[in-house]
Amino acid sequence: MQPYTEKVMDHVRNPRNVGEIEDPDGVGEVGNPVCGDMMRLTIKVRDNHIQDAKFQTFGCGAAIAVSSMLTELVIGKTIEDALRISNRMVAEALDGLPPVKMHCSALGEDALRAAIRDYMSRQGKSLCVCGDLNCPHRNDCEERNKAREAAHAHAHDHGEHEGHEHQD
Ligand code: FES
Repeated sequence: MQPYTEKVMDHVRNPRNVGEIEDPDGVGEVGNPVCGDMMRLTIKVRDNHIQDAKFQTFGCGAAIAVSSMLTELVIGKTIEDALRISNRMVAEALDGLPPVKMHCSALGEDALRAAIRDYMSRQGKSLCVCGDLNCPHRNDCEERNKAREAAHAHAHDHGEHEGHEHQD
């Protein structure tokens, strides 16, 4: 396996924003369907901006680095801009991940979307599974999401997950 970049190693050794925000405005708790690792992200939102974010991750080094970098990327962003952060962007901000570890970056994106979805529902609004606040095709997106989850489960059952890359 290719070695981790210096940036990844820096975030593994010295992860930023570890912990849990007291009285958060949104919570995202997700498991990686590929390996079963877990991430919990709590966010504080003020004036539509993510004021603070903290994570707890039970996973591999790449997952820790992704979680740490994700919190650095989202703090200060508007909800709309935070929704544009993809797993690829987080991996790029870490100067890349080894191909077999790209699936680990899905954990960060999924936790962020779950936390924002939770925040939205607390505001009495809902976020489409595609991540668009104003998506006009919600039923289609639900169907696509179910199909994607089924495909993940199938790949997991058949050991096809190494090197699999999460794409949205
Ligand atoms: S997140 Fe599970 S192996 Fe990296």
